Amino acid sequence: MKSKDLLCLKASSFLEQVYQELGLPALEQRLVDVQQEIETTGTYTHLTVELEHGARLAWRNSNRCIGRLYWKSLVLNDKRNVANTNKVFDALEEHLQMATNNGKILPLITVFPPMHPNGKTPFRIWNKNLIRYAAHQKEDGTITGDPDQLAFTNLCKQWGWKGNGGDFDLLPLVVEGQGESPTWRTLKQELILEVDLEHPEYKWFSDLQLKWHAVPLISDMVLEMGGIQYPAAPFNGWYMVTEIGSRNLGDEKRYNKLPLIAKQMGLQMDKSNPFWKDKALVVLNEAVHFSFQKAGVTLADHHAASEQFMKFIRNEEAENRKVNADWAWIVPPISGSTLKVFHQEYNNDVISPNFFYNHNAWEAAPSKSKCPFHVDSKSGN
Ligand code: ARG
Repeated sequence: MKSKDLLCLKASSFLEQVYQELGLPALEQRLVDVQQEIETTGTYTHLTVELEHGARLAWRNSNRCIGRLYWKSLVLNDKRNVANTNKVFDALEEHLQMATNNGKILPLITVFPPMHPNGKTPFRIWNKNLIRYAAHQKEDGTITGDPDQLAFTNLCKQWGWKGNGGDFDLLPLVVEGQGESPTWRTLKQELILEVDLEHPEYKWFSDLQLKWHAVPLISDMVLEMGGIQYPAAPFNGWYMVTEIGSRNLGDEKRYNKLPLIAKQMGLQMDKSNPFWKDKALVVLNEAVHFSFQKAGVTLADHHAASEQFMKFIRNEEAENRKVNADWAWIVPPISGSTLKVFHQEYNNDVISPNFFYNHNAWEAAPSKSKCPFHVDSKSGN
C-alpha cells in the first residue's frame, strides 16, 4: 500500500474513534479535509481536541502502566508551534513548574512538533527522564549517584557539563534540533521539588541522607496517534511508592541501599536470615511513603494503585472495551500476591494510540527495521 494511503487509513480510524468517544460533530467533513491535506502535503495536522484525546488514549492504552484509572485527567500543553531549541528548554521548564504544582502533582504532557512522514524530526529530547541524577564514576570503577545514568552523564561531561559530583546531582536538559548538535541547559534547582527521606520510627534513617524528586517524567518515548509520531512529547503522572523505594533506591544496579539499611537495622545479613532484604525493603518503602506524605507530595501506595487498576478494568468493561496489560510490569515489585492485580491474566496486545520506546538518542537507529520506534521489552521506565 502507498504510504499516503496507509496514513489516510490510520488517520480515519483514529478520528472515527475520537469523534465517536467525544460525541463530536462533523466527522465526515473532517475526514474529507484530512484526506485532502495528506494528498497535498504528505501529512496532516491534529486539531487540539484530537491531540488532547489522542494523548489520553495513549495513556489508556499503555499496557505497562498501573495508574491508568486517571487517563481522562491528563492535561495537554500544546507546544507544536515551538521553532527553536531555546523555546523547547523554556517549555520544559514550564512543564516542570506546572506538573510539580507545589506537590499536588498534575498529570501533564507537553507536545512538540511531530515527525514529518519523510522522517524529518524537528526536536528530540536526549534525557530518558527529564529529572534524573548523574552517575560519577571514580578511577576504581565505583559510582557515585545513579549508575543507570552513566552513559548519558559521560556525554554531558564531554560537552562541558560539570555537576557537583554528589549522590543526587541533577543532570542537565539536553535537546537536539533538526540538523543541529545537541545543546544542554542546567536544570534549575528551584524548579525541582525533592523530598528528603526519613522514617517514622527509625530516627537514624535521615542520617542516610537519601532523597528523591517528586515528579516522574518520561521524556524519550514516541507518542503515536492516527499515523502521526511525536518523538518529543514528555509526560508525567505521579509516583507509586515502590518505583522509588523498591527500584530506584533498592535495586542492586541502582542506588543499592538495602545492605546499608539492613546494617542500621541490626539484621543478620547471611543465609541464616534469608529475609533481611525483604525487611529492609519494607522499611525503605515506608520511609518514602511517610516522607512524601509529610511533604504534601502526591504519591500512590501499591495497595491503592492495585485497587485503582481493578476499578479501571471495571470502568473499561462498562464501556465495552478490553484492557490490555503487561503482567510483569503491572504487578508491583513487593507484596505481589497480596494485590488483586497479581491474580489476574491480561492480554498484552499493543494498540494505537500509544507511547513507544525510541532508541537512545546517542545511538544509531536500529538498521534492520525501517520503523523509527519499536516496542523493546528490554528497555523501560
Ligand atoms: N519508574 C520511573 C522513575 O522512577 C517513572 C516511570 C513512570 N512512573 C509513573 N508513576 N508515571 O522515574
